[in-house]
Amino acid sequence: MSVAEDTLEKTSSQRDGSAVPTLVVENLKTHFFTRAGAVKAVDDVSFSVKAGEILGLAGESGSGKSITGFSVLGLIDPPGRIVSGAIRFNGEDLVTASPERLQDLRGNRIAMIFQDPMMTLNPVLRVDTQMIEAIQAHRKMDRKAARQRAYDALEMVGIPSPGERLNAYPHQLSGGMRQRVAIAIAFLNEPDLIIADEPTTALDVTIQAQILHEAQALCRRTGTAMIWITHDLAVVAGLADRIAVMYAGRIVETGQTDEVIDHPLHPYSVGLLGSVPSANKRGDRLNQIPGMTPSLIGLPSGCAFKARCPRADDHCDATPEVIEEMPGREIRCHHPHRQEAGA
Ligand SMILES: Nc1ncnc2c1ncn2[C@@H]1O[C@H](COP(=O)(O)OP(=O)(O)OP(=O)(O)O)[C@@H](O)[C@H]1O
Ligand code: SF4
Ligand SMILES: [Mg+2]
Repeated sequence: MSVAEDTLEKTSSQRDGSAVPTLVVENLKTHFFTRAGAVKAVDDVSFSVKAGEILGLAGESGSGKSITGFSVLGLIDPPGRIVSGAIRFNGEDLVTASPERLQDLRGNRIAMIFQDPMMTLNPVLRVDTQMIEAIQAHRKMDRKAARQRAYDALEMVGIPSPGERLNAYPHQLSGGMRQRVAIAIAFLNEPDLIIADEPTTALDVTIQAQILHEAQALCRRTGTAMIWITHDLAVVAGLADRIAVMYAGRIVETGQTDEVIDHPLHPYSVGLLGSVPSANKRGDRLNQIPGMTPSLIGLPSGCAFKARCPRADDHCDATPEVIEEMPGREIRCHHPHRQEAGA
């Protein structure tokens, strides 16, 4: 059976059970216990992703996006650890899962795509060798069938002449092609969940747009749930179904993509959007968010965005709880409907 036939079958069977999210993260806290103090990289984070859905996880550098992804994959090493919270993958608790179980899930049921495709690719092995190994590590399949599956996967991510690429070594491919091969490897075993950590940041905008389009089409076709991590809201605006905006280890706003993009409620989301170049603002100055991301060691009490926030007042000395505006639309702010001066 080809990858395409296989994945089409999976789509129909997954649709029946699509009411249960593929991944549910609840009140997750992942901290690093350093000499300087505890770095609260992920601090009370909750979200879910359904089969075939793409969640965009956006925020500035250091906000905790990657550590959220690594926590799901069971890739947090000392001095870091998951302090509390739940991670349920297809109903199975991953926080208490054994290292062997997590290793079995990685690359099989859950895959990760990194910013640098060479985190996935082995420079000294031909593409076909590593793709065949990735298949045979998780299932019984003879070499010929596995190679055919690898061929189909390269075709699915829009790689021209897949036969030639299979015979190539990674260094013989362009950056865009290498990233497509890494994406093909992520989809190879038809995972239920893919976590993509800024995989197109290093690529030029045309290639980036093509890859986003291919990734979106693949998720729709295969029923794979995907978390797309980025610092650039423009990237997820056209890709994700829902967006979660992260700041200083917390998700501060969640909603359907068009709601968050058209009507951001958290001042940080407003700021992030103001720093995205777009056609309708051509000629206008971009609005940078003033100030710096705070250190995640010993954050003062109250809202972590307070020092940079144009809406801050005395209420913000108390830590804001999550407010559910409506199902699926959540904001962590005391003044989600207050307008900034000059807005
Ligand atoms: N091994 C570690 N020890 C101590 N602190 C760490 C460690 N790994 C990550 N951190 C801290 O955790 C915080 C969140 O890091 P993370 O890599 O998740 O950020 P990010 O949002 O992915 O940023 P970027 O956009 O730069 O990739 C940062 O403050 C970082 O310094
Ligand atoms: S809680 Fe206050 S400081 Fe924090 S984002 Fe909202 S208005 Fe700004
Ligand atoms: Mg990161």
